[in-house]
Amino acid sequence: MSETILKIDHLQKQFDSHVILKDVSLSVKKGEVIVIIGPSGCGKSTFLRCINGLEDIQSGDILLENRSIVGNTTQIQKERQRIGMVFQSYDLFPHKTVLDNVTLAPRKVQKRDKAEVEKEGLQLLDRVGLASKQNAYPRQLSGGQKQRVAIVRALAMHPEILLFDEVTAALDPEMVHEVLETMLELARSGNTMLIVTHEMSFARAVADRIVFLDEGGIVEEGTPEEFFEHPKTDRAKKFLASFEYHR
Ligand SMILES: Nc1ncnc2c1ncn2[C@@H]1O[C@H](COP(=O)(O)OP(=O)(O)O)[C@@H](O)[C@H]1O
Ligand SMILES: [Mg+2]
Repeated sequence: MSETILKIDHLQKQFDSHVILKDVSLSVKKGEVIVIIGPSGCGKSTFLRCINGLEDIQSGDILLENRSIVGNTTQIQKERQRIGMVFQSYDLFPHKTVLDNVTLAPRKVQKRDKAEVEKEGLQLLDRVGLASKQNAYPRQLSGGQKQRVAIVRALAMHPEILLFDEVTAALDPEMVHEVLETMLELARSGNTMLIVTHEMSFARAVADRIVFLDEGGIVEEGTPEEFFEHPKTDRAKKFLASFEYHR
């Protein structure tokens, strides 16, 4: 786990004159699992969206294996397919079956062979316990099942980096666990992951490194033990304390 796969270099992001991310730098190693935590509105989603090219940036750079992926050329769009993202709202196509939702992008965007993609899609669905739902429609699934389908849909594109933005935040409590288990399994099998979550015990279990973001900057980072047991800054201490209280 030594090779840097993703480098965010002095990233600055504004919405109009409002600076959301100021001078954020972060290097991610291949196979590393980073959990990003911080108060609501501090820029966590914006940070992931910038990495995935869903937001333009004002200055700085984002490098995937030393090549910039800032911009919108065809080549950069292709490079960006190496990064997959899962959102809080699953955004499945309601009129398509589970298997079609999973296989659509690999077939249409990556122009891969239908039979091959379907075979793999079924294997991935099986891995998250949903092979039997291949012909179901999203409305026939629970929230937890829909989110696992959304994860499989991201995996079907063979991403080298996975971004997760509060993927359990909209779920009923009893369904949170099944989605976190799926993510733990992905982490254990060596995937490179950036995860935004408020599930602190999960963060602790899954992360190689915790990054604490506040007011548009990285305030503190460290191992889960360092961060949760010995937070260095008052802001992190305060955040953790408020969290204990609200749980
Ligand atoms: N499309 C947008 N236009 C203007 N402001 C935005 C937009 N998206 C997010 N923001 C603002 O950027 C800040 C960070 O938002 P966000 O990244 O969603 O925070 P978090 O995910 O940490 O809760 C907030 O102040 C939010 O209002
Ligand atoms: Mg957010």
